[in-house]
Amino acid sequence: MPDKKVLITGACGEIGQALIQSLSEEGNTEIISLDLKPLPEKLAGLSHHLQADLLKEDVIASLEKMNRFSHIYHLAAILSTTAEQNPFLAHKINSCITIDLLEMAARMSQAGNYSVKFLFPSSIAVYGLPDLKTKQSVPPVKENQFTDPTTMYGCSKLYCEKVGTYYSENFQQLADQIPTRVDFRAIRFPGIISAFTVPSGGTSDFGPEMIHAAAQGLPYDSFVRSDVTIPFMMMPDAVRSLIMLADTPVENLHQRIYNITSFSLSAGDFKEMTRSGYPDAEIGFQPDPKRQAIVDTWPEEIDDSPARTDWGWKPIYGTREVCQDYLLANISRHYS
Ligand code: SER
Repeated sequence: MPDKKVLITGACGEIGQALIQSLSEEGNTEIISLDLKPLPEKLAGLSHHLQADLLKEDVIASLEKMNRFSHIYHLAAILSTTAEQNPFLAHKINSCITIDLLEMAARMSQAGNYSVKFLFPSSIAVYGLPDLKTKQSVPPVKENQFTDPTTMYGCSKLYCEKVGTYYSENFQQLADQIPTRVDFRAIRFPGIISAFTVPSGGTSDFGPEMIHAAAQGLPYDSFVRSDVTIPFMMMPDAVRSLIMLADTPVENLHQRIYNITSFSLSAGDFKEMTRSGYPDAEIGFQPDPKRQAIVDTWPEEIDDSPARTDWGWKPIYGTREVCQDYLLANISRHYS
């Protein structure tokens, strides 16, 4: 019998694919992956995959009938740019499905009298800095500052952080029945860069899009100004952080929502980094005022000291130089 039975939703997304790979290396872990899409061939055999739509009524019910999950990594979401094109659908996918899965976790924990860990990727999109001057002058932003998102994606991530905390700490607080045991933990991710996959529909995508385009010999125009800076991290660190947070004993955690970061880069820095590996890359800047306005509300730097103190978070790809070496080597290999 495996020690852990893990559900990963949004499993075919960028984080999902990397997480399946990492968890499958742990051994003793049974993985149930779920996505609208079939599992990419390279991951075949690493999980029991369900191709299903979580908005369909019977999907969660059948998941529940067949399984007792120890961990739920709920990654399914519509990213910030796509969410602005259909905010109500984004609400349903990003918020309603989360609450449905929290309900499922609560019922499972109650029926089996055990604690279900619920891992949730939140985002720097929960922040909303009031203007560019503030963005460029404030010290690294802490978890409880400037949480005034301007996007549906940011609103839904912030709501899910709150409601996940509610399910862990106050759910059924007036009821007289066996308590539920949902252990909700969230990480606010910066922009994530993978050497092997390209994001779609996000507003931090200008960085990864630029370097992946160059690696394929394609020209690229950034949709934000060259001075625009936000925090980033590499995919292997992002996945490791989720597993680290899941594995941390609950008594070490002083909060449920944690910032993490590796380094901050401007779009201009990305161009320099890309050109260091692909000197002939054609990279321009054609800011899209609307997407630009979104990134202008996200912090340049975030403070991740609680994650460092409570669960020993520290990026392996912690500087631009280390990231550059890793990325250029792996992206080139990926496309060759
Ligand atoms: N990468 C996300 C997006 O751009 C932000 O966390 O939507």
